[in-house]
Amino acid sequence: MLNYREIEDLHQLNSFYKLPVVIERGEGFYVYDIEGKKYLDFMCGYGVALLGHNHEVIKNAIIEQINKIITCHSSLYLDVRAEFLELLFSVLPSELSRCFLTNSGSEAIELAIKLVRKKGKKKIISMENSYHGKTFGALSLTGKKKYRESFEPLLQYVEFAKYNNIEDLMEKIDEETGAIIVEPIQGESGVIIPDEEYLRTIRDICDEKGIILVLDEIQTGLGRTGRLFCFEYSKVIPDILCIGKGLAGGLPVGCVITREEFNLLKTGEHTSTFSANPLVCAVAKNVLKFIVDNQLWENAKIMGEEFLKGLRNLDNKGIKEIRGKGLMVAIEFKIDVKNTLNRLMKNGLICCYTAPNTLRFLPPLNIRIEQIKEAIEKIANGTY
Ligand SMILES: Cc1ncc(COP(=O)(O)O)c(C=O)c1O
Repeated sequence: MLNYREIEDLHQLNSFYKLPVVIERGEGFYVYDIEGKKYLDFMCGYGVALLGHNHEVIKNAIIEQINKIITCHSSLYLDVRAEFLELLFSVLPSELSRCFLTNSGSEAIELAIKLVRKKGKKKIISMENSYHGKTFGALSLTGKKKYRESFEPLLQYVEFAKYNNIEDLMEKIDEETGAIIVEPIQGESGVIIPDEEYLRTIRDICDEKGIILVLDEIQTGLGRTGRLFCFEYSKVIPDILCIGKGLAGGLPVGCVITREEFNLLKTGEHTSTFSANPLVCAVAKNVLKFIVDNQLWENAKIMGEEFLKGLRNLDNKGIKEIRGKGLMVAIEFKIDVKNTLNRLMKNGLICCYTAPNTLRFLPPLNIRIEQIKEAIEKIANGTY
């Protein structure tokens, strides 16, 4: 008889880099495998479990909504959808007034591309080493050769500029440039934090040249970096904002948020069966309310600083660099980290593999100092 791992390996298309553990359940900051072993979870579904696992707020929202209605197409109005939208736009700058809910971050990027096309100018400048997802359009904007090369030709009219390099960006801009898409911090690349003025400068360039600024805050958004949105640090407001990950407490979601002028789609031009479905809206409303009511970004900022301080005190010759903002933290090692990742897991700490040399940590926003200390201790013992 095959075990769980063997069944997954047999039937799933090979694609994910898998850790050799079978998870059964999660509670708070921890997940448990089928043998009952406990792991501190600093992977959190790659940044999805913003409130930790099985939080009461999420469970209650799901149960309450299940008892009312589970599916309701966006061609009908829905009470909880309107409630979520009202809350979402109450926490966003007033310049942003429209949105479309998708089923993933990649799908949010797809729609952002379509909205740019609607405006007229086709060319989009993205950044080298960026990550915007793996559906065809999103992959076309993802600046990593290893993800792209088997699938070319991808979308035309895409060019890549060096991240955190305004001079190179300026060289790539021409008359045909319709949009610039950028992550405020590059996540999948290993938490690459640009200069303080970088986003502000891009915003100024976009304003001067009539270029659309698309911010991909799918990873940085919703409190992760110590502010509700990372763009708040630079005091910029994007034209199009993409978010996703933990917005719906672990249910599949993405969201494209725009200024009023992007309300350009003709009826039927962009629809999706599950867009803004009742369960997603109910959970998103409650997750967002919990984040805002508890100002969880403040905890992310404080705990992030504690985590960075602890990591920087480690005496480890194998570490090349430690980077982070809020609870988006990375350790870059001098060598491949696959063994380290597995060793940490065996020691009871799960984190994100960020190939090839970097470990990334995306703990819940409500993490406590005890768990930060526990993680540092496990990293101290498990890395060398
Ligand atoms: C910055 C960024 N953009 C887009 C995506 C794609 O989102 P999804 O995996 O939900 O399609 C991700 C996912 O990690 C991301 O970090």
